[in-house]
Amino acid sequence: MQPQLMQRLVTGCQWAHGRLWNYLAGNYSRAEIPVVFPEKPDRKDFLNELISRNGYRTYLEIGCWNDDCFSKIAAPHKVGVDPRSGGTLRLTSDDFFARNAERFDLIFIDGLHLYEQVQKDILHSLDVLEDGGTIVLHDCVPTRCIEQYDTQVTRIWNGDVWKAMVEARTWEGVDAVTCLIDFGLGVLRKRANGDPLHLPNGNFKSLRFDFLAADYRRLLRAVGFDTALAFATNGSRDGTRRPQ
Ligand SMILES: C[S@@+](CC[C@H](N)C(=O)[O-])C[C@H]1O[C@@H](n2cnc3c(N)ncnc32)[C@H](O)[C@@H]1O
Repeated sequence: MQPQLMQRLVTGCQWAHGRLWNYLAGNYSRAEIPVVFPEKPDRKDFLNELISRNGYRTYLEIGCWNDDCFSKIAAPHKVGVDPRSGGTLRLTSDDFFARNAERFDLIFIDGLHLYEQVQKDILHSLDVLEDGGTIVLHDCVPTRCIEQYDTQVTRIWNGDVWKAMVEARTWEGVDAVTCLIDFGLGVLRKRANGDPLHLPNGNFKSLRFDFLAADYRRLLRAVGFDTALAFATNGSRDGTRRPQ
């Protein structure tokens, strides 16, 4: 059998096993989030528009894969971190942050799509974010339950990034919205939370997809492209002026 065919067969078996396991574990839900993402604008448009509006100079991308995004980012200084491919440094995000001494204007988190890792990536990013800087988080809006299992069982895999976004929405010192493009972009700024989420259950990992689907607009503070840009534009009504 050809190696490519063999690989597809193995992946198919792994996905079928993952779906069955999650079904038997009671993780499956038929609920859906009725968002249809437009083809354009996408994450690159959003990131480049922020660089242009805010005069950002330094960009960090966590998880670069084939550089589809990284190569199109128009920042003067770019650092890309990925243990497998793309970017500029062959490291996990944990190893990168353990040795990094730089600060960044714009950080795009798109590495391992698991709540525990994304939460750490956000906290580390907040530590090295320049004043007036922005963190953008990919894959915050899974539209179907199977897209957010903590193993990949379908072509689109958001993982449970959304749980880290919901947690960030509860933090006092972080202001966050979710832009409804390109699988959901979390947009985080380091300033007073303008609309804090109060959740009685502090165990974010245990949140269920039904819970998100029933109230995703409020939980994620969902907004459109223009509102998300204004939110993160320094000096705008919604943004924060960057100290000169
Ligand atoms: C979805 S892809 C990134 C896509 C890319 N950001 C883009 O927009 O085109 C996820 C990448 O994260 C990388 N990755 C996995 N675990 C990681 C980790 N712990 N730290 C950093 N990157 C990680 C994978 O190797 C993979 O290349």
